[in-house]
Amino acid sequence: MASYPLITILGAVYLLAFTLAPVTQSIPFVVFHGISDKCSSKGVTHFTELLSNWSGSEGHCIEIGDGAWDSWTMSILEQTAIACEKVKNMSKLSDGYNLVGLSQGAMIGRGVVEFCDGAPPVKNFISLAGVHAGIASIPFCGSGVFCVLVDYLIELLGVYSAYVQEHLAPAGYVKIPTDLAKYLKGCKFLPNLNNEHVDHRNSTYKERFASLQNLVLIMFEQDTVLEPKETSWFGYYPDGTFDTILPAQEWF
Ligand SMILES: *[C@@H]1O[C@H](CO)[C@@H](O)[C@H](O)[C@H]1NC(C)=O
Ligand SMILES: *[C@@H]1O[C@H](CO)[C@@H](O)[C@H](O)[C@H]1NC(C)=O
Ligand SMILES: *[C@@H]1O[C@H](CO)[C@@H](O)[C@H](O)[C@H]1NC(C)=O
Repeated sequence: MASYPLITILGAVYLLAFTLAPVTQSIPFVVFHGISDKCSSKGVTHFTELLSNWSGSEGHCIEIGDGAWDSWTMSILEQTAIACEKVKNMSKLSDGYNLVGLSQGAMIGRGVVEFCDGAPPVKNFISLAGVHAGIASIPFCGSGVFCVLVDYLIELLGVYSAYVQEHLAPAGYVKIPTDLAKYLKGCKFLPNLNNEHVDHRNSTYKERFASLQNLVLIMFEQDTVLEPKETSWFGYYPDGTFDTILPAQEWF
């Protein structure tokens, strides 16, 4: 299943810890893990502990549902709602916190920043291999029975069908550049998160996202999971074509 080599992640943590340590003092941080992963996995435990040790601040990985299985099968909107309740419930975060999101977890994190009413403020937002502008294909799942079923359902019903949107998390941020009408109509998460519905943009989302003290977006140069990797920096294919990738500055 989709994942990044530990060494890549560790390089990023190292950089982050030392960049943020002087500005974060003892602000706590939370981690949202990526798809197919869970807080109790060796990689995520190590990541959270190292980041905590190196930055000198307390950190917690927040689990949504049962971890790996729910990270695939619970809609991203529902995962965001759970994450929202959990951060509101943690009294340690009430004076504000830093948020670190890995891949899909960066989307849940941004959902918390923009959609979560009454939540404590996120000060610094750090995204590793986030999927901010969408992806053009579901992350590689594998060849197990579950993955065969996923492929079958998408083939049969379409990624923007209500059923797939509700039962497959990545469907909430798949953006097929040659199928934008269906994306805007059927996709339940990303078009709202990125305020892409021109007729009903929500300025509150923009204000909340703009209120961050720092936004750190890390893209992995050798990323083979995300199509295109530039999505981690809000870069994406222009409407209607796969021919080029526009940087964020030309989108927003
Ligand atoms: C973090 O620091 C603690 C206490 O010094 C140490 O026991 C632990 O091994 C460190 N964790 C990592 C991942 O380096
Ligand atoms: C929030 O805290 C309350 C009281 O401790 C608990 O009953 C509830 O399940 C918690 N909700 C979440 C989403 O963790
Ligand atoms: C925008 O989002 C906020 C926060 O979720 C919500 O309270 C508000 O009603 C929304 N505004 C519109 C016009 O939909």
